[in-house]
Formats: sequence, structure tokens, C-alpha cells
Amino acid sequence: MRCIADAAPSPTAETTYFKVGDNLYLRNFHPADVPRIAQITAEALNEHYDPSLYLSLSREWPEGYIVAVDRDGTVQGFLLGVCQVPSEGRVLMFAVEGAWRRRGVGGALMSTFFNRCRVKGLRRVTLEVRVGNANAIRFYNRFGFTMADLLRNYYSDGENGYQMARYL
Ligand SMILES: CC(C)(COP(=O)(O)OP(=O)(O)OC[C@H]1O[C@@H](n2cnc3c(N)ncnc32)[C@H](O)[C@@H]1OP(=O)(O)O)[C@@H](O)C(=O)NCCC(=O)NCCS
Repeated sequence: MRCIADAAPSPTAETTYFKVGDNLYLRNFHPADVPRIAQITAEALNEHYDPSLYLSLSREWPEGYIVAVDRDGTVQGFLLGVCQVPSEGRVLMFAVEGAWRRRGVGGALMSTFFNRCRVKGLRRVTLEVRVGNANAIRFYNRFGFTMADLLRNYYSDGENGYQMARYL
């Protein structure tokens, strides 16, 4: 495993690991990550997407798709960001394995995503979250996001969502 402590993310860093903790590294998404990401998504978000979705979304902006791995190389969290609106990044999926939460994994992923957005010249980051997901909302508040809009019946089960946003 090649590690670069405190290095700035590189646009060609697909196989480069950035050490962000004693037992935590960040790297770009790789197609082999799909089964583990699908597992984390199912457990954390109770969502079951076609695996091809994770791959097709990775092609648009590879540097926006970041995974956190432990020393053994096991993926323990990921952030899938896209850029669909000029000058804006959007967090499409974001989850950390249950046993790894509250250990800074999500924060490391989000901070790195902000940096990559800045490198790309983006000025704002948006996301959607269930109104009942109080833990995630606390996390997003901590990272500077504020409510931008109420999205009625946004989720397939009818739950409302918030769009949240922050400027970079
Ligand atoms: C949201 C999520 C990704 C955060 O990841 P994480 O690795 O636990 O986050 P961090 O450890 O970096 O937390 C950073 C800060 O956010 C806040 N925070 C995170 N989780 C929190 C919780 N459960 N309750 C209260 N505050 C919380 C705290 O301020 C925390 O700092 P602290 O631990 O020093 O108090 C994670 O909780 C998760 O995977 N949840 C399930 C999936 C989900 O809801 N994803 C978002 C969908 S929109």
C-alpha cells in the first residue's frame, strides 16, 4: 500500500492512498469496490441499487468518488459525489460502516470531497437527507451545511427530505 501523509489529492490518484488516521486511508473508488459499497449502502441506508449504477456514476467524475479503507484494505465508508450543475458538487451517496462511525471516517471523506470540489473550481455543495435522519443532519450541520429547501415526498416511501447546501 503506497501512502502519502497529508498530501493534496491528485486527479490521477486512483491507486494512491492518503493516510488520514492510524488505521484509515482514503483512495479513489475502484470497480472492485462495488460489492462492499453495495453492502454498506444496504445496511446503512436500506437501499438496494443495481450494481451497474455504482459503476456508471463513477465515470462522470472519478475524483468525486472516494472510499475509506482500513489497514487491511477493507472499505469502511464511501462518499459518491457528482457534478451535475455548473459550479456545484452534489453528495449523492454517503455512508460509513456501523462499527466505524463516530471515529472521523465521515469527516475525512467529506473534507476530502470539499477539497476536490475546490480543485475543480466548484463553489457550492448540495445534498439531500431524510428529515428523520437526525444523526446525518447533525453531521452535516457540523460540516457547515444548512437547510436550503424542504422536499415533500422526496423518498420512495413518502418521507420528506431536506436539501442542504454549503458554500466552499
Ligand atoms: C452520517 C455518517 C456518514 C457520518 O459518518 P461518521 O464517520 O460517523 O462521522 P464522523 O465520525 O466524522 O463525525 C463527525 C461529527 O459529526 C457529528 N455526528 C456524526 N454522527 C453523529 C451522531 N450519530 N450523533 C450526533 N452527532 C454526530 C459529530 O459532531 C461528529 O463529531 P464528534 O464525533 O467529534 O462529536 C454516518 O453516521 C452514517 O454512515 N450514517 C448512516 C448512513 C447515512 O445516514 N448517510 C447519510 C445519508 S444522507
